[in-house]
Amino acid sequence: MSVIGTNYLGATHAAGMAEFGHHVIGVDIDSARVKTLNAGQSHIFEVGLEPMLERHTSTGRLRFTTDYTQIADWADVHFLALGTPSGSGGKTDLSQLHAAVDTLAPLLTKPALIVGKSTVPVGTAVALEQRIRRLAPAGDEIEVAWNPEFLREAYAVEDTMRPDRLVFGTHSAHALRVLEEIYAIPLTDRTPVVRCDLATAELIKASANAFLATKISFINAMAQMCQAAGGDVTLLADAIGYDKRIGRDFLNAGLGFGGGCLPKDIAALAVRADELGVHVLSDLIHSVEAINEGQRTELAELAIAQAGGDVHGKRVAVLGAAFKPGTDDTRNSPALTVADRLHAAGADVRIYDPQARLPPREGFTQVASVEQAAHRADITLHLTEWPEFRQIDPVALGELVRHKVIIDGRLKLHAPSWTDAGWKLVQIGRAGTL
Ligand code: UDX
Repeated sequence: MSVIGTNYLGATHAAGMAEFGHHVIGVDIDSARVKTLNAGQSHIFEVGLEPMLERHTSTGRLRFTTDYTQIADWADVHFLALGTPSGSGGKTDLSQLHAAVDTLAPLLTKPALIVGKSTVPVGTAVALEQRIRRLAPAGDEIEVAWNPEFLREAYAVEDTMRPDRLVFGTHSAHALRVLEEIYAIPLTDRTPVVRCDLATAELIKASANAFLATKISFINAMAQMCQAAGGDVTLLADAIGYDKRIGRDFLNAGLGFGGGCLPKDIAALAVRADELGVHVLSDLIHSVEAINEGQRTELAELAIAQAGGDVHGKRVAVLGAAFKPGTDDTRNSPALTVADRLHAAGADVRIYDPQARLPPREGFTQVASVEQAAHRADITLHLTEWPEFRQIDPVALGELVRHKVIIDGRLKLHAPSWTDAGWKLVQIGRAGTL
């Protein structure tokens, strides 16, 4: 089989398929990335990925190429794992998917199954099938199925090898059989499978992300409520989370969601909902987005207020740059939005992250340790909840800063340890800390 596209999704899927025992060729237009992957190395930080790449590239079961002619005859199944970024107005930009199928299709002279993994607006799979059949010499013998991926960054390997569920979207019995053979190992492990039509498969992925985003915005709205009323949102989340119908996951209040998927995917779902006249859904999503954006604004404003109403010339220590712990990814990172706003307000921002490496940017100094970030800081911000930040000794850190004021934007620091060490600790939604 081939896997077209070798970023987070494609590289992990290709390695996972090899681990399931299949022979795989990964395809990408980026020759530098192909070279790295062929050497058994990963171009992204993802726990467990590199050992899998090493293992399977060394046996030849897994290879990477830039050349589509190598996969056209060789593979019966082609997975599409390309990026579907946001285009204008939040609408999905399908150009990578289109470019890939336009290159592959004219080379397809025998029956093949094309399996989409990317997150796409509902209706894309049917349109792609028509497009491929028009371009491929094998014509109607080419089938398209949709098998969305739910992997989380930092857990990509685990989620690929042991998925919560599999979704097989197809209108063909043959395609279904092929997918069942490909996923024989997780199916033997009793992984739940939803067999459905193409539109449902596309919508399942979009709604999973929209629901997760809604959970986060809901708890952040409740954090505002706790703040106003004098309650504690963490205890509230624990208590409602014990209800199995609700569950505790994704009820961590704080700076809200970011990353390469949730914000983009919910914006795309809202656009598609409007196109189809389902405005109740787009209205709901816009509220979720507004709450999420509000958390970033509020944190930046709080930092300014806590720094005496003006951060101009003040030193701000920012702990965390990645959009969540366990990854080096800073796409749409809430931490960076806050850091950017404080820089724009005139602050001298020093930022430390255990993994994320920022391209040089004006106004930011990226430093190599918590201590360097905190040196003579007027205010300290905890914005990405890396476990190592919970190990910080507030007494020792207190000796480095100019003012012992910290805003915990992720509600994960142990409040008594900080306050006992003489710090002013601010956590939105936890009574008594403001
Ligand atoms: C997400 C989905 O979880 C995954 O299924 C999908 O395939 C891709 O998008 P990912 O982007 O890796 O995965 O991040 P995720 O772990 O879902 O976190 C998203 C964001 O929500 C992060 O910024 C995180 O900090 C934030 N978050 C998460 C919260 O603010 N509170 C929570 O309780 C949980």
